Amino acid sequence: MTNNKTPFRIAIAGLGTVGAGVVKVLQDNHDVIKNRCGRDIEIISVTASNKTKDRGVDISNYEWVDNLSSMAEDNRVDAVVEMIGGSEGDAKTLVEVALKNGKHVVTANKALLAHHGFVLSQLAESYGVSIAYEASVAGGIPVIKALREGLAANEITNIYGILNGTCNYILTEMRETERNFDAVLKDAQEMGYAEADPSFDVDGVDAAHKLVLLGALAFGVQPDFESLEIEGISNLTMKDINYAEELGYRIKLIGMAQCDDGVFTQVVSPCFVSKKNAISQVEGVFNAIMVEGDFVDKVMIQGRGAGAGPTASSVVADIIDLARGERVSTFGVPTEKLKAIEWRGVETLNAKCYIHLHVKDVSGVIADITACLKDKDVSIDSFIQRGHEEDGTASVAIVTHKASLVKVNNAVRVVEELATVLNKPTLVRIEDI
Ligand SMILES: NC(=O)c1ccc[n+]([C@@H]2O[C@H](COP(=O)([O-])OP(=O)(O)OC[C@H]3O[C@@H](n4cnc5c(N)ncnc54)[C@H](OP(=O)(O)O)[C@@H]3O)[C@@H](O)[C@H]2O)c1
Repeated sequence: MTNNKTPFRIAIAGLGTVGAGVVKVLQDNHDVIKNRCGRDIEIISVTASNKTKDRGVDISNYEWVDNLSSMAEDNRVDAVVEMIGGSEGDAKTLVEVALKNGKHVVTANKALLAHHGFVLSQLAESYGVSIAYEASVAGGIPVIKALREGLAANEITNIYGILNGTCNYILTEMRETERNFDAVLKDAQEMGYAEADPSFDVDGVDAAHKLVLLGALAFGVQPDFESLEIEGISNLTMKDINYAEELGYRIKLIGMAQCDDGVFTQVVSPCFVSKKNAISQVEGVFNAIMVEGDFVDKVMIQGRGAGAGPTASSVVADIIDLARGERVSTFGVPTEKLKAIEWRGVETLNAKCYIHLHVKDVSGVIADITACLKDKDVSIDSFIQRGHEEDGTASVAIVTHKASLVKVNNAVRVVEELATVLNKPTLVRIEDI
């Protein structure tokens, strides 16, 4: 640890949920943080869009800067804390200017790093500064530090988890209250668990941004958002939730990056997870990440993935590290060592699958479906059929044996064409984790 009497000086851009939370943590825990750093952390300047807005914290002692570039160029500042958000625009420009001016950057901005992390880490390296981003993945859970430091001795083979609290809250509420997706989403928006425009969360994009960063850290590869396969949760119905329960599973939106014999796969999608797996028991707004390493075996961490307090806790931890003089490469290894790899499509994985069909309740319908599956080399493990006498239709849930997802997808495409099949079949991977 440095024993530096000079304060570590920061500038904070963005005073919303997280930025104001950072100010509060630094103020409320000033003494304990100072003791742990061996020096003071001093907020030099702050900014946001609206100077007059009440932030719920006292910012009267800090300089207000209207121009983001001048904040990033300020010679007094050691680190710029970017709490604006967004992959492009002002947040990106601020980070670039800060790095080019020899300032460390602390950010919670997963979108920015998922899209530009490699180039920004090259920039940081060439100016001899660091990008710290603990808060950008799973809010208050110190998973970046765990991967980059605590598990650094291991070859990581698999990393997966629940990376979006909004989706986990919706899936938990659907199951517990037996209400459909739209009703639960509306509640989540009213309670502040979901944004007015929830698409980033429910379409899986937010989880994907985080997964890209975890994959890069876990495998020492360049973050590659474009190659990621993403599916959200908005097509799931109460029927799927209930069938999962009946079959011994819970549905979770899982982000998974794995390396199998040098072949890399990364995907965000709803999965059936066995109720025996600890991840399936992580409910509500909580996040959890499981890491599998060759020597450590399995490590799981869970906690709050969002909110002012948990996210600011991670941001301030990064500031403390920098104030102590700790420097680590953005993705755990120097950028020249980060491999550019080809990610394999999820279709080439082998997995058990759940298929839900809404069919005409007529004789021969099940025989036709099983024939389609057999024809594509997909065998059935279990089967539930529920008739609806009033409208002459039935609901069918099928669990396949482990098969190539290419084959299962092909089979489902043929099944969908049957005149007796009334819905677009729901297909969910059963993740054997
Ligand atoms: N919220 C969470 O729980 C959470 C968790 C993990 C990571 N993150 C990440 O943390 C970052 C901040 O999120 P947040 O929830 O705190 O967002 P937020 O509440 O919307 O706050 C954004 C802040 O940025 C300011 N701002 C916007 N455009 C600006 C500009 N051009 N120049 C200067 N300031 C500008 C806003 O000013 P005004 O206040 O004046 O409008 C506001 O203070 C994002 O990258 C987000 O993904 C958030």
